[in-house]
Amino acid sequence: MARPPKNLQNNSTGKKLTQSVLRLDGNDSAPRRCHECGMTFSPHISSDVNLHEKYHVLHLNGRKWSMKWGDIIEKYQLNRETSEALHVNLQLIQNRGPWSLASSHTALSHDYVAQISASRKSEVMATLDIMEIVNDELKAPQNENHFWSHLYERDGISDFKGQTKPTGTAFVYVSNKRAVGVITLEYLNSRDERGRWMIYDTAGIVSNVKPSFKLGISRVWVCKQQRGRGIGTRLLEAARKYAVPGFELEKLDMAWSQPSESGGKLAKSYNGVVHQKSGKVLIPCYI
Ligand SMILES: CC(C)(COP(=O)(O)OP(=O)(O)OC[C@H]1O[C@@H](n2cnc3c(N)ncnc32)[C@H](O)[C@@H]1OP(=O)(O)O)[C@@H](O)C(=O)NCCC(=O)NCCS
Ligand SMILES: [Zn+2]
Repeated sequence: MARPPKNLQNNSTGKKLTQSVLRLDGNDSAPRRCHECGMTFSPHISSDVNLHEKYHVLHLNGRKWSMKWGDIIEKYQLNRETSEALHVNLQLIQNRGPWSLASSHTALSHDYVAQISASRKSEVMATLDIMEIVNDELKAPQNENHFWSHLYERDGISDFKGQTKPTGTAFVYVSNKRAVGVITLEYLNSRDERGRWMIYDTAGIVSNVKPSFKLGISRVWVCKQQRGRGIGTRLLEAARKYAVPGFELEKLDMAWSQPSESGGKLAKSYNGVVHQKSGKVLIPCYI
């Protein structure tokens, strides 16, 4: 059976299983690990091969995305080569519907961020496809989507309820008709005292201090092929401006949930602060 990377054995075992001699003669029946997406699968089982193909494309290139899904909140015109933003069009789109990408600049990529409506099942389900990949990569629980969707989740069962009031929100970043990034956010209540400072170098939590933050970054993810082009930062900015309707937050109103290694680097660059006395970089976090 195909396995996502979280179930991988150690690297040395993986290397032995992927000897090129065995693969080239076509008789390799041993499971092997794709070095790009990290999935382990059996090349001779067709269902495994299909599963891997689907996972691989999602992981590297994101998910196909219909323009009918999500409310476009921000558009970008980017130079395809450099990903540099040539023009950023800040616009809150009130009416849904197809957005015309008319432009004579073929070298430009027209990207946008769309906010997911918890009550529209098709866009919630499409976002869940991406969240599966995200959670696999982060080795995070799969059942933490209730706060941005109308999903009822318990004991591994997800059902769409379509009624309860969401306590968070989600945005996707769309490029060339694919959702290539996602961010999910929880509204934090200061009464719950979930805010903490994390020391960047050691990942230790500063004791006896409970700062108040307004928005928790539950997950942020960008597909592998699109990393390092500023998309993570654009998702954070979209969240800062639009997650709380009618109220633009400060960067330091946003806190991270157990940042991963790359998440920690993004956090440091986005809203890390230097503690005056110790000179250490602190990351706003929540538990
Ligand atoms: C973390 C993640 C979302 C970053 O997305 P991204 O689109 O590559 O981020 P950006 O291009 O906006 O990065 C902005 C800045 O953050 C820092 N940064 C982000 N990822 C980094 C990395 N892997 N290594 C070093 N610095 C990094 C850099 O300072 C970068 O600026 P620079 O490119 O000018 O140096 C992406 O790497 C990812 O999806 N990782 C896997 C999932 C994950 O770990 N998510 C975080 C959960 S807390
Ligand atoms: Zn793969």
